[in-house]
Amino acid sequence: MNTPAAPEQASPQIGPPLWLLAELTYRCPLHCVFCYNPVDFAHHPDELSTDDWLRVLREARAAGSVQCGFSGGEPLLRDDLEILVAEAHRLGFYTNLLTSGVGLTESRAAALKEAGLDHIQLSFQDSTRELNDFLSHTRTFELKQKVAAIIKANGWPMVMNCVIHRLNIDYIDRIIDMAVELDAEYLELANSQYYSWALLNRDQLLPSREQIERAERVTNARREQYGDRIRIFYVVPDYYENRPKKCMNGWGNVFLTVTPDGTAVPCHTAAMLPGLSFPNVRDMDVKQIWYDSEGFNRYRGDGWMKDSCRSCPDKEKDLGGCRCQAFMLTGDPAAADPVCDKSPHHHVVTKAVERAQSGEGRMHEAPLVFRSPEESRKRPVLS
Ligand code: FES
Repeated sequence: MNTPAAPEQASPQIGPPLWLLAELTYRCPLHCVFCYNPVDFAHHPDELSTDDWLRVLREARAAGSVQCGFSGGEPLLRDDLEILVAEAHRLGFYTNLLTSGVGLTESRAAALKEAGLDHIQLSFQDSTRELNDFLSHTRTFELKQKVAAIIKANGWPMVMNCVIHRLNIDYIDRIIDMAVELDAEYLELANSQYYSWALLNRDQLLPSREQIERAERVTNARREQYGDRIRIFYVVPDYYENRPKKCMNGWGNVFLTVTPDGTAVPCHTAAMLPGLSFPNVRDMDVKQIWYDSEGFNRYRGDGWMKDSCRSCPDKEKDLGGCRCQAFMLTGDPAAADPVCDKSPHHHVVTKAVERAQSGEGRMHEAPLVFRSPEESRKRPVLS
């Protein structure tokens, strides 16, 4: 493994960590096959206490954070969620709950409203009970519909999220229709990106190019049909692009994620990157973590880039793509993201796409791996 030395000094242009993502717990009643939690999550069962989280909120706000997302796992499994939301609201954060809906009863919704929660994003897996419940390995479809009604009744904007992949992409029209029936204001149709559990299941989940193009056409037609009734965001999987995404809007640029055990990272999966250490909020103040820690400075700017990225005219646009994807697909976190067609490793991505086109991967297909603590414990510890 060839990991670069840290840049001699961090860019003087570092702005504040505008977005704080508080991953309150890895516990989750669902077992989604595309879950973005690290596959070794069960090896990290430790969770910050309420007091720790309250301190993190205060420190992050003092460091300039303005948005706070509470996620997991399922954040409603924490019975101090209302306390944390109330403190975030008091501090002036715009607060967002990312939930499967499990646990959002009428009384908890009322308590969260009282605490000042601004926004809820509710996930569905599909528009049918059969596929929704199959993909999450739970019977949650009807419950989610009830939760959608509770969200509306409390006056929150209804934001639905559905991860799209080969198994549900052909029903995208019905997913959009369901969102309209549930009176959603926003629908995020995010094609799965291939990290964590989705990477384990990539052969079964990566759609073909024809599926993606059809889904885009159908989505555009539905946008015309429904006009202002709903705003639909459709995100293509980056395996079908030839330039990488500016991941997390740049490493340590906007996003600060705190994992359940208090590790502070620039993205959900960075803790697995080799040769890097990330501080814990129990040991270091958020401002110090953001500006001074080695983990947050390592891939800022372009001092860490190898030649192919450093001399690229697009480097400002994509900042070399995603460090986690580079590591997962090449073994080197400082390599160009192989999604880029200038990367010497681009064939890894084109091969995965070819397998999706031909169905080759599925012919020898292993069964889908559902996220669960048992499955996670079988995996090696990554961080
Ligand atoms: Fe970690 Fe892209 S997900 S840098």
